Amino acid sequence: MRRNKPLFVSFEGPEASGKSSQIILLKNFLIKNKIPYIVTREPGGTIISEKLRNIILQKKNNITNLEEILLLMAARLNHINQVIEPNLKKGKLVISDRFADSTFVYQGFVNGFGIKKIQKLHKDLLNNFLPTKTFLFKLPSNEIIKRLKKRKIKNKYDIKDIQFHNKIALGYKQISNSKRFTLINGLMSKDKIHKKILKTLGL
Ligand SMILES: Nc1ncnc2c1ncn2[C@@H]1O[C@H](COP(=O)(O)OP(=O)(O)OP(=O)(O)O)[C@@H](O)[C@H]1O
Ligand SMILES: [Mg+2]
Repeated sequence: MRRNKPLFVSFEGPEASGKSSQIILLKNFLIKNKIPYIVTREPGGTIISEKLRNIILQKKNNITNLEEILLLMAARLNHINQVIEPNLKKGKLVISDRFADSTFVYQGFVNGFGIKKIQKLHKDLLNNFLPTKTFLFKLPSNEIIKRLKKRKIKNKYDIKDIQFHNKIALGYKQISNSKRFTLINGLMSKDKIHKKILKTLGL
């Protein structure tokens, strides 16, 4: 798939499904093989966007869903302008831990703003800037809860119940019917998933 083209790859899916673990494995492979890359994340990736991340993810915050959407989109545009596009232009592989699909699912579907409505905002305001390839992790909600119990530092999306995780899964199902997505079964071993990711990227 790569064929020396710059590529923007996102990792999506519910809490604790293995996204960050796979990004580390991919990063190690890229370093070993001297392939130029950057790893970034959302919300975040720039000084301003990391500040917005702290506001968005803190447990006790008093903001509405629409306010959260606007902060996320401001953070995303800053991230695209300052980090993603410049690095793609340099020919680097850009890897992002979550991107716009998370907003479509969490704020659009789960929090009720509407998937179509939020995708339209993304088209109108962010020029429909989307990854070339998205790895979408799937994990049963009981396994998510099991993995989250082991985690010490928790953000506001780590302390939700099984219904919340089921809804996230349903939201991802609704947005993932394009060729951009490669589904990853999060129950497979880390090594098997890593190999599937390399193969999909043509690495
Ligand atoms: N394939 C796997 N099999 C078993 N355990 C895994 C696998 N991948 C990751 N884990 C474990 O699950 C936990 C969560 O993994 P990780 O932090 O990579 O998930 P994440 O998708 O990045 O979560 P978040 O969205 O909350 O950042 C970690 O303890 C990790 O070691
Ligand atoms: Mg993570």
